[in-house]
Amino acid sequence: MTVSAPLLAWYDRARRDLPWRRTADPYAIWVSEAMLQQTQVATVIPYYHRFLQRFPTVQALAAAPEGDVLKAWEGLGYYSRARNLQKAARVVLADHGGRLPDTAAALKTLPGIGPYMAGAVASIAFGRSEPVLDGNVERVLTRLFAIADPVAGRATRQHLWALAAELLSPARPGDHNQAMMELGATLCTPRAPACGACPLSARCRAAAAGNPEGFPCKTPRAATPHHHIAVGVVAHGGRLLLVRRPPKGLLGGMWEFPGGRVADGEAVADGVARNLRERFGLTVAVATPLAPVRHAFTHRRVTLHPFHCRAAADAVAPRFHVDHRWLAGDAVAGLALPRAHQKIAAQMAGQPSGPVTGQLFGQTLEAAGG
Ligand code: ADE
Ligand code: SF4
Repeated sequence: MTVSAPLLAWYDRARRDLPWRRTADPYAIWVSEAMLQQTQVATVIPYYHRFLQRFPTVQALAAAPEGDVLKAWEGLGYYSRARNLQKAARVVLADHGGRLPDTAAALKTLPGIGPYMAGAVASIAFGRSEPVLDGNVERVLTRLFAIADPVAGRATRQHLWALAAELLSPARPGDHNQAMMELGATLCTPRAPACGACPLSARCRAAAAGNPEGFPCKTPRAATPHHHIAVGVVAHGGRLLLVRRPPKGLLGGMWEFPGGRVADGEAVADGVARNLRERFGLTVAVATPLAPVRHAFTHRRVTLHPFHCRAAADAVAPRFHVDHRWLAGDAVAGLALPRAHQKIAAQMAGQPSGPVTGQLFGQTLEAAGG
């Protein structure tokens, strides 16, 4: 299957006029690829111009104070790219006579240059027959060949690199690689690819199957764990009990209403009483539920199930050594509470006659479903 001929014909016709496509200077091409690796074309363009104005050569970059390089990179993010670029410039000066090495293998020995950058610079700046594989190329390839294996897998990645090498035009490797990226960036987009305008549609298995968006196949992420937390809004003498989290770990050092995980199969109200007893040595009468509060952390979701509780008469202080305070409702806002607990506090504030009203305690206990 020849991909390169129609691909290059399309590229010659449709390619975007980008500044790094107007230069043959390997240093400038290297800078562009370092910027483009994690950042979109439109964002990169002004940075590219400014950076080359400020550091027009490998020598200028190597000689600059690191702070100046980082300043020129400010706003692009992933600052190790800038640090590595300068480190590599110094190595190029020290070990390569100031000229960027012209093979992928030699480029890969420089700081910050991995397989993608080595392939890109070797092919674009030096005309070497070296493939590239980035997110765009990966998408195009998995669609062309309807590769359903998860792309994170080692074997799949090897297969994709091999395919990229096999399809490469030996006559114009730099343009071929840029054309693959261009196709992925402009037509073969993650959502709603423009197969009707694509130079490869007649050869594309995903398009033939009518399912281009089915590729690439990402590894299904493990479902985010969902924890249910039973929370006691414990009142005593018109004040509410707040406890402090341990200094280390999630939300370290913040204040919150006391509680803990609901056990499997446990009624939420029972979970409140049990956690307060087991974790804080507190005996409470669990009264009515407040509205549950949901919160998403990066690696877990939690639902807090707050309940009004009344502390037993002898339980003015938790019996375990926990940093705690009894506070009037409006003083709670003065503490650093996690967002979810702020929402619980806000529900208390919405109550007309102070934080906990007497009528609460006459009500029957309700076990909310978990
Ligand atoms: N992304 C990475 N390299 C690129 C290039 N040379 N042109 C356009 N987008 C790119
Ligand atoms: Fe991508 Fe569609 Fe072209 Fe296939 S035909 S490479 S899915 S744009």
